[in-house]
Amino acid sequence: MTDLELIDAAKEASRQSYSPYSKFKVGAALLSDDGSLYKGCNVENASYGATCCAERTALFTAVADGKRRFSKLAVAGSSDGTFAIITQPCGVCLQALSEFCSGEFEVLLTDKIGIRKMKLSDYLPYPFEKASMEG
Ligand code: THU
Repeated sequence: MTDLELIDAAKEASRQSYSPYSKFKVGAALLSDDGSLYKGCNVENASYGATCCAERTALFTAVADGKRRFSKLAVAGSSDGTFAIITQPCGVCLQALSEFCSGEFEVLLTDKIGIRKMKLSDYLPYPFEKASMEG
């Protein structure tokens, strides 16, 4: 699957967004090592803190389907359907991804210019991990 196809899958996923509060529709598309694709959208809640971001929706759906190894993730968000501005993954989602993905894991973002490719370690060079509790 090309980067552009993964971005398109993230945009497609954003159409399922349940975001009556922010009106900001986010989609994520996560590619597992075996080539399976998992899509997720943000799911908001009247108790705002119970909201789940698109990235974690995709990740947890994949894990619930038995997948634990992933190669890349695309994220696309928009309030007006133009996807003109990059949607950066939040810190909670980065930490959740770090449980299953190495620092080399690719994060693909999009804006009106094109695609930006990041590594998980660009965002979160020092994740809290199992080894963090071994001292
Ligand atoms: N959101 C995501 O789904 N992913 C991100 O990377 C950033 C934020 C959602 C959460 C909430 O529903 C809305 O965007 C506004 O914060």
